[in-house]
Amino acid sequence: MSDKTTVTYRLNGTERSETVPANTVLADLLRERHGMTGVKLSCERGVCGSCTGLVDDRPVATCSMMAFQVEGANVEVVDGESADTHLGAAQQAFRERGGFQCGYCTSGMLMLTAALLRRDPDPDPATVRAWISSNVCRCTGYEMILESVLRAGEIVREGEGE
Ligand code: FES
Ligand code: FES
Repeated sequence: MSDKTTVTYRLNGTERSETVPANTVLADLLRERHGMTGVKLSCERGVCGSCTGLVDDRPVATCSMMAFQVEGANVEVVDGESADTHLGAAQQAFRERGGFQCGYCTSGMLMLTAALLRRDPDPDPATVRAWISSNVCRCTGYEMILESVLRAGEIVREGEGE
């Protein structure tokens, strides 16, 4: 049996077909093959969320997913230029509201925010708190993160002409 597998997927809007060792973890594929070091590794056990990316619009811990599992999927991470207005709004809002300190959790928080705002561009604070509870901020800057997510929703709504 071959210890390699080919995975065909879309990464930040670009079609990819790659042959990788069968035991390749998605986060390692993104970081080591594609240089997408915005995918931050910390616990590597699916607990902290710093490695969060979106797979078919669902937030996932990329450290806890195998590369072959994204066959046919749409994978999005924070690295590179994105035309996604939700991610753009999140980035603007986190800058405006100081939603980061050391920044280690920020990539994951931004991806979470984009995914939330796609579902609900006007979330209430309780919804935001519940949504971001999957991710750990070691600097405990949760109030600023909450403000940033709410501000990101405003930016999205302004862009939609509300
Ligand atoms: S590094 Fe992936 S969840 Fe912590
Ligand atoms: S800003 Fe430091 S871990 Fe969140």
